[in-house]
Amino acid sequence: MEISRKLFIAAVVAGMGSIGVSTGAFAQEQVIKIGHIGPVSGPQANMGKDDENGARMAVDELNAKGMEIGGKKVKFVFVAEDDGADPKQGTAASQKLCDEKIAGAVTFLNSGVAIPSSKVFHDCGIPMITGAATNPDLTKPGWDTTYRVIANDNALGAALADYTVKTAKLKTVAVVDDRTPYGQGIASVYKATVEKLGVKVVANEFTNDKATDFMAILTSIKAKKPDAIFYGGMYGQAGPMLRQMQQLGMNNVKVFGGDGLCIPDLANVAAQAKTLANVVCADGGSTIEKMPGGKDWKARYDAKFPGQFQVYSPYFYDGVMILADAMKRANSWDPKVYIPFLQKTDYQGVTSKIRFESNGEMKDPTYTLSKFVDGKKTALD
Ligand code: ALA
Repeated sequence: MEISRKLFIAAVVAGMGSIGVSTGAFAQEQVIKIGHIGPVSGPQANMGKDDENGARMAVDELNAKGMEIGGKKVKFVFVAEDDGADPKQGTAASQKLCDEKIAGAVTFLNSGVAIPSSKVFHDCGIPMITGAATNPDLTKPGWDTTYRVIANDNALGAALADYTVKTAKLKTVAVVDDRTPYGQGIASVYKATVEKLGVKVVANEFTNDKATDFMAILTSIKAKKPDAIFYGGMYGQAGPMLRQMQQLGMNNVKVFGGDGLCIPDLANVAAQAKTLANVVCADGGSTIEKMPGGKDWKARYDAKFPGQFQVYSPYFYDGVMILADAMKRANSWDPKVYIPFLQKTDYQGVTSKIRFESNGEMKDPTYTLSKFVDGKKTALD
C-alpha cells in the first residue's frame, strides 16, 4: 500500500515536470546573485554609481539574452550595497553578501575598502573582481578569490613619474597624499620612481580623504617652489585643492595624480579653476575610443544611464561577463567549481582581452595619461 502511494506521487511529480518542460509554465529558473559594493553615497558617489551602473548593465544584458548553465535556464539577480568609501561599511557589506550566498562580486572603487573586504570574500570562498581598486597590495596574498581587470598603481605611479621627467622635464616636485591605502600607495610609487630618475622631492605633506581646506599645506609647499605637486588621493579633495592653488597664485605648478583624479567630474568639483589645465593624470586601461567594443558599449550605457559615465564602468561590465563566462565553461555557478575556470579566463571584453596572472592581476594591462582641455578630460595620445 505504502509503496503504491509513493509510486503514485512519483508519477504525478514526474508528470508535472514534463508539463513544465513542454509548456514552460512550471520551468524553474536558477537564480544566480551577483554583488556590487561601492561608494554610491558621499563625495565619491558619481564614481561609485558609474561602477555600479557598469555591473548592472551587464546583468541586465545577460538576462535579456538568456543563458543556460549546466542545462538550466538561469536568471542573474544584481545585489548592490553602499560602502560610503568606508572600510568598516565595506567589510560589513561584504559579509552581508556572503550571507546572501551571492555567486560572485564585481566590486569596489577604493583600495582602502577592497583590501580588507577581499579577506571577507576569501574566507567565505566567493570570488570578487575589481575594475577600479588599484593598490598592488590587493593581490599580494595570491588568493584564488581576488581578481583585478585594470592596471595597478605600480604601473600608474611609474607612468606619471616617467612623464614628469621625460615629457614635462621637471626638476622638483612636492608629494601630498590622503593617508588612505590608495593615496599613500600611489604617492610612494611615484616618489620612489621620480627620485630614481633624478627629480628632487622638496616637500612631503599629508591630508585625509575628507579634507577640503588645503591652504596651510599649499602655503608651505608654495614657499618651496616645486615645479609640480603629485596628489595621491581622490577628486573630492583634488577639486578644492586646485581652486585653492588658484587663490594662492600657484598657476604654473603642474598637478599629477592617478585614477582618483582622472575622471570627467574633477572639472565640476574644481569649479573649472584655471589650474585644472595643469593636471596630468593616469588611469588604467584605454579610452573608450580605443577599446575594441567601446563605441557600441558607450552608446548603450548612455541610453541607459544618461550623463553618468565617469571612467571604470566598462571594467565592471566586463567583470560580470567574465564571471558568467567562467560559470558557463564550468557548467556551474558554485564558486568552488567555477573558480578554476575563472583563473583560466581568456575573454575578449569590451575593454580588452582579459587573462589573469596566477595572483589574480590582469595580464598585460594598459594605462592612459590624460589632461583637461577646456574642462574636458582628454587623452594625451
Ligand atoms: N583606484 C583608486 C583606489 O584604488 C580609486 O582606491
